[in-house]
Amino acid sequence: MRTAGLEPAWACAREILSLLCIPIPPRPRLVKTYFSKNVYARVSPLLTQVFTIVNMNNSTEKNNSKETSQNAPVFDNDFRLNLENLIRWRRDVRRFAPDPVDDKLIDELLRLAALAPSVGNSQPWRFVKVKSKKRRTHIIEDFEACNADALAEYEGERAKLYATLKLSGMQEAPIHLAVFCDESTIDGHGIGQKTMPEMLPYSVVGALGTLWLAARAHGIGMGWVSIINPKIVTKILDVPKEWSLIAYLCLGYPEEEHIDPELQRYGWQDRIDISSFLLER
Ligand SMILES: Cc1cc2nc3c(=O)[nH]c(=O)nc-3n(C[C@H](O)[C@H](O)[C@H](O)COP(=O)(O)O)c2cc1C
Repeated sequence: MRTAGLEPAWACAREILSLLCIPIPPRPRLVKTYFSKNVYARVSPLLTQVFTIVNMNNSTEKNNSKETSQNAPVFDNDFRLNLENLIRWRRDVRRFAPDPVDDKLIDELLRLAALAPSVGNSQPWRFVKVKSKKRRTHIIEDFEACNADALAEYEGERAKLYATLKLSGMQEAPIHLAVFCDESTIDGHGIGQKTMPEMLPYSVVGALGTLWLAARAHGIGMGWVSIINPKIVTKILDVPKEWSLIAYLCLGYPEEEHIDPELQRYGWQDRIDISSFLLER
């Protein structure tokens, strides 16, 4: 059955079902499982007729919208449990195994990240695979300098604890990825940015959330390093001047898996219950 007219057909079918005093399932695809076989047998021919008539009436609808609704997946409970596990087991990874990562897998992850939402569909993310050993070395030197400065700003027990933290996996990670926002892009035609120009970089950050989860789903760990000087790193990477650095990422196979954040495990910062961040107005 074509699904061009599924929405109106379903609305129509719901009317009929309610006239027949039959409980209405949440979605048409669930009809079979929702009703007992007998009820379905009674209703099915009627539904088919309704769908056919409405489909004929909607034959002028655009082709691509038909395709989209026909192929739309149904996410079941198993999927939701897996998704929850993925979210729970995503980690900021700084301890990498030396195993190489296939470049094709990185391309696939970036392809998925680029499906993220962006203001006006501007897609302002720009990815730089940092392959040059020399450039990597300079960036690691910058991290070390920034990290030493950061440590100097803490005192007492906090300083001692900070000094024990591993805050970058840059030495070991097989993949280094710098992520920029093209502040000059005309894609998206400025929509949504007039009063909130920061929406372009926010869009890039959103894509990084997608990348983090996609990587984890493929068994790849990702670590975000922000203890760097963005001007220096941008210069080292020699990218267009309109690009602003959003993230420097390390990727690779993780050496260990944890359900809790490393900074929690090492006593730096616990997770906070969501209820303390939730207001109602
Ligand atoms: C914007 C951003 C910047 C971050 N910068 C660093 C960093 O420089 N070094 C580091 O070790 N972790 C960094 N992290 C990772 C956080 O420490 C980590 O997300 C947090 O402790 C929670 O751990 P989890 O990601 O494993 O849940 C950064 C994360 C974000 C989102």
